[in-house]
Amino acid sequence: MNDLHATSGRVESARPAVSAGEITVSNVSKSYGAGLFTKDVVQDCSFTIERNKLTVMIGPSGCGKSTLIRLLAGFEKPTSGTIALNGKPITGPGRDRLVVFQESALFPWMTTYDNIMYGPRARGEDTQQARDMAKFLLEKVGLTAFREKYPPQLSGGMQRRAELARAMINNPNVMILDEPFRGLDAMSKELMWEYYAGLFEESRRTNFFVTTDIDEAIFLADRLLIMTNAPARVRATLEIDIPRPRKIADLFNNERANEVKIEALSLLHEEAMKSFSGGSKAAADFIEAYSKRDTKQK
Ligand SMILES: Nc1ncnc2c1ncn2[C@@H]1O[C@H](COP(=O)(O)OP(=O)(O)OP(=O)(O)O)[C@@H](O)[C@H]1O
Ligand SMILES: [Mg+2]
Repeated sequence: MNDLHATSGRVESARPAVSAGEITVSNVSKSYGAGLFTKDVVQDCSFTIERNKLTVMIGPSGCGKSTLIRLLAGFEKPTSGTIALNGKPITGPGRDRLVVFQESALFPWMTTYDNIMYGPRARGEDTQQARDMAKFLLEKVGLTAFREKYPPQLSGGMQRRAELARAMINNPNVMILDEPFRGLDAMSKELMWEYYAGLFEESRRTNFFVTTDIDEAIFLADRLLIMTNAPARVRATLEIDIPRPRKIADLFNNERANEVKIEALSLLHEEAMKSFSGGSKAAADFIEAYSKRDTKQK
């Protein structure tokens, strides 16, 4: 018991000082292909991921959110426009930005602990400080008892928590998350929202979180960016001035949350209708024809 306390004390002191960054996206466009086959995925898009805030981006599936994330991460370059971190243009991937992807990225052949230590070890920094930090984060994400288990032995929610710890150990200036809770069942998802919001509220690290789930967006966000249908641009920015710490039970009784939800849903609905009548003419024709056929049959 004493040992445990001694360890926790040292582990607590391993907590890193968070230096948060700010990202500015200015008139960014991204196209794929060439000539007649050019596809504009992002078009003249501008927004700021403000320091110490949790900015959430919501938009229809396929509107270009993951493409924007690849640009922010520096894995790809914009066709035009600039992206800067603390005023310095982003020219490639960097430790200052960390991305948690849509799909699980844990290595199945490594234990939870080894997965969390992956970043420091890859940099040749398997130091006592890094090991203390890994212990601290295992406690934080409630996985101390699972440190020697392999990803397939963890539930979906545990895997997501291990991934958060694996990203946080690198102490990035900005955490970027691309639908990290997609695919979890409704109850695990709500638990993860509270959990993740708690981690943010404690560190106030700059976070950028992408989702297609409106309740998730409103529960988490300080600022909500609503995207247009493809090509992606910011259609509206809503400030979500609901006090923290936030609890799921409060969310559904909160008047401001309901107001924001109605406004966001109406904007998203307009964008979805545009894609239906413009982008997917064939689908609209098909449904129209199908509904006529149905009426005739009756
Ligand atoms: N390398 C590429 N080459 C050509 N087209 C691409 C490429 N990457 C993405 N796209 C296209 O860009 C569009 C946006 O894709 P993206 O993955 O960014 O959407 P998304 O908003 O993240 O969707 P979802 O919510 O389903 O994850 C899609 O139509 C996709 O086919
Ligand atoms: Mg995506």
